[in-house]
Amino acid sequence: AVPVICIDGPSASGKGTLAAHVAKQLGFHVLDSGALYRVAGVAARQRGLDIAPEHAPALADVARSLQLVFDGERVLLDGRDVAAAMRSDAGSRDASLISAIPAVRDALLQWQRERAALPGLVADGRDMGTVVFPDAPLKVFLTASAEHRAERRYKQLISQGFDVKLASLREELEARDLRDTTRAVAPLKPAVDAKVLDNSDLSVAEATEQVLQWWRQ
Ligand code: CDP
Repeated sequence: AVPVICIDGPSASGKGTLAAHVAKQLGFHVLDSGALYRVAGVAARQRGLDIAPEHAPALADVARSLQLVFDGERVLLDGRDVAAAMRSDAGSRDASLISAIPAVRDALLQWQRERAALPGLVADGRDMGTVVFPDAPLKVFLTASAEHRAERRYKQLISQGFDVKLASLREELEARDLRDTTRAVAPLKPAVDAKVLDNSDLSVAEATEQVLQWWRQ
């Protein structure tokens, strides 16, 4: 079997950064499943679909037929770069809406599982350890305090030239946490065999080292 390391956790907990560092150290591939839901949202909008439960069958068709290429910073959907659209506020909201539709999640399962290729995969998301790769030998549930996560997202957005307020970012983050953990489909929770890592006071290097140490055990 292909080795898979799952890194799940709430918004802005540092999953993407940690996944990239761990993958680099091990020479593994990376799956950013959040990006997949973001692209699915963009694709649905491009086809003029409302992202609502009553359109589940059409939305699942869109998800199943995504023509997608991840190429460094670029994300090509049907050959066009949609990186900016998927990172926008509307893109985040659409991702959150479309990811709550069970038929869409089912449609994306196989594509995600096919990313597991030798020498291995680091998978970043909400349900990597609980749903997509339940047999993965290492599952990490990455958390950080709401304060730290809001601050990280704030710095990230400011450095990208967005005009945002820390207080409102934190409010949005806590609202999304509540939605993600209480939703009926794939609620955010650690897998029973996950190792919980709070990286509020850890550097990226320290968090990476902890994961690599678990991996070597
Ligand atoms: O890090 P952030 O939460 O801002 O974004 P993301 O990881 O790119 O996820 C975007 C949206 O997709 C979130 O609203 C998640 O709830 C959802 N998602 C999901 O439902 N399942 C996953 N495996 C990954 C993301």
